[in-house]
Amino acid sequence: MQRQNDLSSQPGMPQVAIIAAMTGNLVIGSGNSLPWHLPEDLQLFKRLTMGCTIIMGHKTYTSIGRPLPGRHNIVLSRSQKNLPGVQVCDSFIACLTAAAQLGRKVFVIGGEELYRKALPIASELHISWVKDTIPGDVHFPGFDLENWIICESMNHPGFRYIRYQRKDSR
Ligand SMILES: NC(=O)c1ccc[n+]([C@@H]2O[C@H](COP(=O)([O-])OP(=O)(O)OC[C@H]3O[C@@H](n4cnc5c(N)ncnc54)[C@H](OP(=O)(O)O)[C@@H]3O)[C@@H](O)[C@H]2O)c1
Repeated sequence: MQRQNDLSSQPGMPQVAIIAAMTGNLVIGSGNSLPWHLPEDLQLFKRLTMGCTIIMGHKTYTSIGRPLPGRHNIVLSRSQKNLPGVQVCDSFIACLTAAAQLGRKVFVIGGEELYRKALPIASELHISWVKDTIPGDVHFPGFDLENWIICESMNHPGFRYIRYQRKDSR
């Protein structure tokens, strides 16, 4: 199936990977933080994103509270022009253009608003499926697993990590 709104096929646009932890019913957060304590998932996140470019929404940046070291941090915001230690962009396409110029692997790291923008163009998903059912107020957008191939799957305490590749990815 052709990707909708296929920004990533436009000249100069990077391939985009999404990384997220979520429950089976797609909860990703609560009260602007993560509603679980999964240190192994944080380690995995660090290992996978180290040296790469990460794109996040302003609320996620606020929730983390600092730029993530060893990675080029791009924050999407309308309200802020400058934030310490990060590159601020005022549109998603500006984030992608800035990321493309760096030539590193690009991860969109959340939150909900960013995942909604990135999912239609993402070629790869790194999902940590949290085993518990946990309530929350932000969700990953619904997606059809039929469109994704499982490339890797690993069981961890409290979650299962699965890497998916989009079936039509080039
Ligand atoms: N489970 C996970 O893997 C995971 C990962 C990351 C985050 N989270 C959770 O997700 C939640 C945050 O997600 P969220 O959806 O509330 O916020 P978000 O996506 O992190 O950030 C939303 C902000 O991004 C900016 N923005 C969004 N669209 C924009 C656009 N088109 N142009 C310019 N700026 C734009 C706005 O910032 P301004 O208001 O400054 O304009 C907006 O308030 C938290 O609970 C966090 O813990 C979970």
